[in-house]
Amino acid sequence: MKFLAISGSLRKSSLNTSLLRAAAALVPQGVSMEVRTLEGIPLLDPDTLEAGFPQAVNELAAALKAADALVLASPEFNYSVTAIMKIALDWLSIHPDAPLKGKATAMMSASPSGLGGARAQYQLRQMLIYPDAKVLGVPEVMVGSAFEKFDAQGELTDQATKDIIQKQMQALKELVNC
Ligand SMILES: Cc1cc2nc3c(=O)[nH]c(=O)nc-3n(C[C@H](O)[C@H](O)[C@H](O)COP(=O)(O)O)c2cc1C
Repeated sequence: MKFLAISGSLRKSSLNTSLLRAAAALVPQGVSMEVRTLEGIPLLDPDTLEAGFPQAVNELAAALKAADALVLASPEFNYSVTAIMKIALDWLSIHPDAPLKGKATAMMSASPSGLGGARAQYQLRQMLIYPDAKVLGVPEVMVGSAFEKFDAQGELTDQATKDIIQKQMQALKELVNC
């Protein structure tokens, strides 16, 4: 089984991308997870659609279509997801292959603040309603005070966080099959 993980951060030493890399090592047996960023995804101007979808969007849609499940991690920017995460979901929502439809999807976030990006996650849930993704309810993974939970190399060091991620990845695998 293949999971695709998408980070909503463009930062090289992103906490959220690091969180997904940690999750990739915590997936259940028989699952592999590729981690992608949204580098190269352009702004969405519907006037340009007559020329076709941009290559970067087609590639992302194809990777998602080929995956059994999706894992999203976005920083919280002003209580919401990042602009690039919103744009990517908008592209995927109108892509003719409908890669989000019925896709088992889990989400996680990391933030230096105490709430761990919770407010952004609830907005992310809302954005996945119309594209009709099959979104996992619990366990939720919201990593607060995140700079204390990763080392200087971006390795997740907090055992309680690893445990909840492992549970979420197991639940996502079960969601694929139900
Ligand atoms: C424009 C901007 C807005 C932000 N707003 C929030 C916020 O609303 N809540 C929060 O917890 N952190 C906020 N932050 C801090 C980010 O959580 C922090 O920069 C985090 O490291 C970004 O994630 P990343 O490390 O994956 O890039 C904001 C940062 C920026 C640059």
